[in-house]
Amino acid sequence: MKGVVFTTFLDMVESTWDFDMVDTIIENAELKSGGAYTAVGTYDHSEAVALVTALSAATDIGVNDLLKTFGQHLFGVLIKGHPEFAAGVEHPLDFLEGVERYIHVEVRKLYPDAQLPQFECNRKSDDELIMIYASGRHLEDLCEGLIRGCLDFYKTQAALTRLTLPDEREEFTISLRSDSP
Ligand code: HEM
Repeated sequence: MKGVVFTTFLDMVESTWDFDMVDTIIENAELKSGGAYTAVGTYDHSEAVALVTALSAATDIGVNDLLKTFGQHLFGVLIKGHPEFAAGVEHPLDFLEGVERYIHVEVRKLYPDAQLPQFECNRKSDDELIMIYASGRHLEDLCEGLIRGCLDFYKTQAALTRLTLPDEREEFTISLRSDSP
């Protein structure tokens, strides 16, 4: 997993709690890397799981909720780093449809070792999108957070529903509220 995910996570822990909490979870997670991440490095995905699990134990907040909150925050950081991905894209559902077709394609060029999920999209209408998420890493909660972060970025209200398919992929249905811009 790319270092930017780790550095953003630890920054969020520090700003939500404090540096002692960062210290505590790095210690308790018993990381191979020792917790010294750089944004351009690549680290074992199991370290991310260990950090989130340690934060959950220290705060009594569930892992699922922590991953959703983190995903929502991560979107803001990713789009600040790559504002060009939203340039000229006026509609949040157009943006989300573009994650598989365009954004992650560009991410792959920038970071050839990135481990990215696959999305299958079905645009039901102008205001409704179905995104089917597939990844061996099963970061469905992070994905939900990223979708919510994208909706926040576009200042849009939407109903988001999730369904686990028999093949273990996760189907997200995003329906914009009619009173949204
Ligand atoms: C500016 C927009 C975006 C950028 C620059 C971006 C970039 C990235 C990067 C660098 C990673 C880490 C890859 C690795 O650790 O090896 C990643 C992972 C991921 N991205 Fe994106 N992303 C963007 C938007 C989104 C959005 C909107 C979604 C959700 C619909 C999404 C879903 C995911 C998920 C779930 C992962 C975790 C890997 C997995 O599930 O297997 N991304 N993305």
